[in-house]
Amino acid sequence: MTLETIEEISTLRERVAAWRRAGQRVGFVPTMGNLHAGHLALVAEARRLAERVVVSIFVNPLQFGPQEDFAAYPRTLARDHELLAGAGTDLLFAPTVAAVYPRGQAEQTLVEVPGLSDILCGASRPGHFVGVATVVCKLFNMVQPDLAVFGEKDFQQLQVIRLMTLDLSLPVAIQGLATVREADGLAMSSRNGYLTAAERARAPVLYRTLQHCAEWLRAGQDHASVERQAGEAIAAAGFEPDYFSVRRAADLGLPAPGERELVVLAAARLGRARLIDNLRVAL
Ligand code: PAF
Repeated sequence: MTLETIEEISTLRERVAAWRRAGQRVGFVPTMGNLHAGHLALVAEARRLAERVVVSIFVNPLQFGPQEDFAAYPRTLARDHELLAGAGTDLLFAPTVAAVYPRGQAEQTLVEVPGLSDILCGASRPGHFVGVATVVCKLFNMVQPDLAVFGEKDFQQLQVIRLMTLDLSLPVAIQGLATVREADGLAMSSRNGYLTAAERARAPVLYRTLQHCAEWLRAGQDHASVERQAGEAIAAAGFEPDYFSVRRAADLGLPAPGERELVVLAAARLGRARLIDNLRVAL
């Protein structure tokens, strides 16, 4: 069957309402397109959990800073459409910027999860998580899904969306899915396409360093020295580190002594690409 692409919110709502009337659960995977196997794993998970699957493709200008890659972000709609049709998607929602922000971005009502939005990636990318929370809240209102699936590669984003959904009492179950990796460990990301061949060969050092962090933590090293050594290791491999941070896995707070459920989060630049990754560590 051909996969229908819808731009208008009203048509999207009609389709979803008909499924709901038929008693079918609707799973949703929001994306910015340029799809890879990581996105297709999210679609497969939504397929497993719901009778109907909606995927959105929307490169959201509100979550990019003025010096960031909004204009350059890869847009590959025809190929994405083919991949989604092959993955058993029921509907592709690809709204225009005008449909999502009808009064313009400057006037847009915003959604902010306080605190969590300003640390880690939020500290380096001011306004990013407000842009994410706002668009995801709007997409939930447009699609009206029963559940939505997000990748754990964007661990902080997943936490922001969980809290936003809880705080605003949105009737959407949030499902996280483990990061999908290339054979050499690099987390799949649309931004990997920015890497030159030489940078791509070096890129798995980020994940290997996270694995070393897990070993150092298990060996009883203190968090500050783990973070420092990791930063030095990737800098030596030619990255420009943004942060390595050992956090409490449940809420990304600073871990109290003796905390056993941790996550190490990392962000670093390699050439044109800003790469992020994380690894959970249970002590
Ligand atoms: O993770 C992404 O691709 C985006 O941040 C999302 C969740 C689709 C919101 O624009």
